[in-house]
Amino acid sequence: MTRKHLLATLGLLMFLSLMVIAGLQEQEKEWQLYGNEVVNLSLPGGTVERCLTCHQGIEEISTSHPIETFGCVSCHGGDGQALDKERAHQGLLGGRNPAALATAGEACGQEGCHINTGNLYRSPVETVPLIPMATKAGEITELAFTYGWQKDLLSRYGIVEVTGYNGEDKEQLEDRNLAADKLELFSLDNNPLQQKLSENCLADCHLNTGAGEIETAQHLAGCAACHTPYRSGGTYQGDDPTINRSEPGHAPEHKLTTAIPYTQCNACHNQGIHSISKVEFLPREDIPVGAITDPNADKSQAYYIEGAQYALCEVELDCIDCHTRNEVMGDGHLTGNKKAAQTIACYDCHGTVDETAKTVKVGSETDNAIWASRYFHDNFPEVKVGDQLAVTDEGEPYVNVRMEGSRIVLYSKVSDKEYTVPQVKGSDCEQLVDEQAGEDCHRCHDVSDN
Ligand code: HEC
Ligand code: HEC
Ligand code: HEC
Ligand code: HEC
Ligand code: HEC
Ligand code: HEC
Ligand code: HEC
Repeated sequence: MTRKHLLATLGLLMFLSLMVIAGLQEQEKEWQLYGNEVVNLSLPGGTVERCLTCHQGIEEISTSHPIETFGCVSCHGGDGQALDKERAHQGLLGGRNPAALATAGEACGQEGCHINTGNLYRSPVETVPLIPMATKAGEITELAFTYGWQKDLLSRYGIVEVTGYNGEDKEQLEDRNLAADKLELFSLDNNPLQQKLSENCLADCHLNTGAGEIETAQHLAGCAACHTPYRSGGTYQGDDPTINRSEPGHAPEHKLTTAIPYTQCNACHNQGIHSISKVEFLPREDIPVGAITDPNADKSQAYYIEGAQYALCEVELDCIDCHTRNEVMGDGHLTGNKKAAQTIACYDCHGTVDETAKTVKVGSETDNAIWASRYFHDNFPEVKVGDQLAVTDEGEPYVNVRMEGSRIVLYSKVSDKEYTVPQVKGSDCEQLVDEQAGEDCHRCHDVSDN
């Protein structure tokens, strides 16, 4: 090699290394917008993640997912080594919300997390996509029947295509209000009324979409619709410097909780009513939209839509103190409408004039009820072997309603409160044993103004 060549090669090398250094500085600049040092988070398996370099200050999502065990990539995907956003975010699951149903399978559904093969009670990732809250099958069917698009009331369509996996026969499917063990995608077919139905009634208020995608949504999508507290307006108020604080569609905090307040359920349930005749959603006018998801708003006004009737406990308690796991997350069977999915009854807790509430005895340490009771707040008394739990007609135990001596006691899943459940038997109740629907009771037990 000649001297000239050598110099040229050295020059080129120097130029190249300057380029590399400049490139590195470029990268440094990016994370320095958010943090002042590289954060190397070491996880139990020995891997190191650097997401916190930019996301420093983000809230630990829950005490059952500690940062030092879970890191970020286990739920979000992405490249934990990278210090530039583009590379770090490559393969991110579901963008802002990995718990949306399209990605929950991968993000939350790793075996042993929220899928337990052989135990559907411990596999919400498998059961939630099959329920009417996710498919809106019941609402579609009601309209399709009313407008003559179909001749019976069995469900065939959903807002997403979904297949059951239990191989049920025709009779079992009809019990679940289904024509087949599958819902087809509800199609528009260029029918203007169907178009209206899609826009006004099916766009929102279900688990397959949420804030960030739909402007009017007062909840996030998927598991986060219930488990991530959301507030109307949707601005982030936590400490992660990367998250836009003025853009709508964000949860106030990076958070997952099982203490789901009634305001979360009301984000879909008590926003207004669907008018079948007008094919329109009529939002409630008695209170501002913001009050519906505001835990500090007047509960007696916000809890139910005007015109509803309810007994005292139906406003005193939170929705999830009565509505059980299978009721809200599904029992693993595809279900065609809300009536077929709804399994609890007033007598589960109150009994009837003939008998006190039925209970089942917890037989072993591996009982689902013991497992489930460990997910609630610190003061929630864990279920123990030998406990007598109230039970639904389907055999699902209430983890929070127990026989203690001669009393039936309810422990709130949301607050620290404890209640004695009054029993109908031995009281002056004038109910008839064969009239046990809520509306039968509301004829005499109604604390609303209606
Ligand atoms: C170089 C800085 C940087 C690093 C490193 C980084 N992020 Fe981000 N991240 C951001 C910024 C900035 C945003 C705000 C949204 C945007 O600008 O895209 C963001 C947004 C996000 C979002 C919301 C996505 C969306 O679509 O709004 C998630 C989730 C996220 N980051 C997860 C991670 C994870 C997991 C890692 C590690 C694997 C990581 N980030 C590493 C800078 C970073
Ligand atoms: C147990 C699973 C889990 C873990 C672990 C986790 N996240 Fe999240 N993350 C979620 C869920 C679910 C959401 C959507 C709900 C929410 O915003 O709280 C989310 C949302 C986000 C967002 C978007 C928030 C917004 O409003 O735009 C960012 C950014 C983010 N996570 C970063 C991180 C970082 C950084 C880590 C690691 C320190 C991390 N996450 C750990 C589940 C997780
Ligand atoms: C419609 C509201 C709702 C949705 C959507 C939802 N959950 Fe739940 N989840 C609840 C309620 C209510 C409880 C408390 C159940 C009980 O009483 O045991 C709960 C409990 C849990 C628990 C605690 C253990 C247990 O099963 O009791 C886990 C874990 C969980 N959910 C994960 C998920 C995952 C993962 C998803 C998404 C695939 C999801 N949830 C979707 C309402 C919901
Ligand atoms: C994202 C919107 C959304 C959220 C959040 C939501 N629901 Fe629902 N829920 C629905 C829809 C949609 C239906 C089906 C309505 C129909 O078919 O007419 C439904 C049906 C139900 C039913 C009847 C059928 C069944 O599955 O048992 C109950 C009970 C119920 N929801 C309780 C709750 C409770 C309790 C919460 C809060 C923990 C909650 N929901 C949160 C949208 C939601
Ligand atoms: C005191 C217990 C209790 C509380 C609290 C409660 N529910 Fe219910 N809910 C029931 C019972 C029992 C039924 C079945 C009613 C019947 O027998 O007709 C029911 C029925 C339902 C149904 C299906 C009936 C229908 O036709 O729409 C939905 C949806 C529902 N509840 C949602 C909620 C929501 C949302 C909350 C909180 C805002 C809530 N519930 C609070 C006990 C309760
Ligand atoms: C999960 C258990 C549970 C279910 C299901 C339930 N309740 Fe209750 N109920 C309670 C508790 C707890 C109290 C006591 C509340 C208190 O002390 O504030 C109560 C109290 C009552 C009372 C007496 C309130 C008073 O005026 O003193 C009536 C009446 C009642 N419930 C009717 C109903 C009706 C009707 C339904 C069905 C729609 C129902 N309950 C479903 C737990 C339940
Ligand atoms: C025809 C009217 C009537 C109907 C229908 C009725 N009740 Fe009652 N109930 C009463 C009266 C009256 C009492 C005794 C006075 C009181 O405690 O409010 C009572 C008492 C009770 C109590 C005991 C309250 C306490 O504090 O000891 C419970 C619980 C109860 N009813 C639940 C129900 C349930 C659940 C239904 C529906 C399956 C129902 N009732 C239907 C009239 C009725």
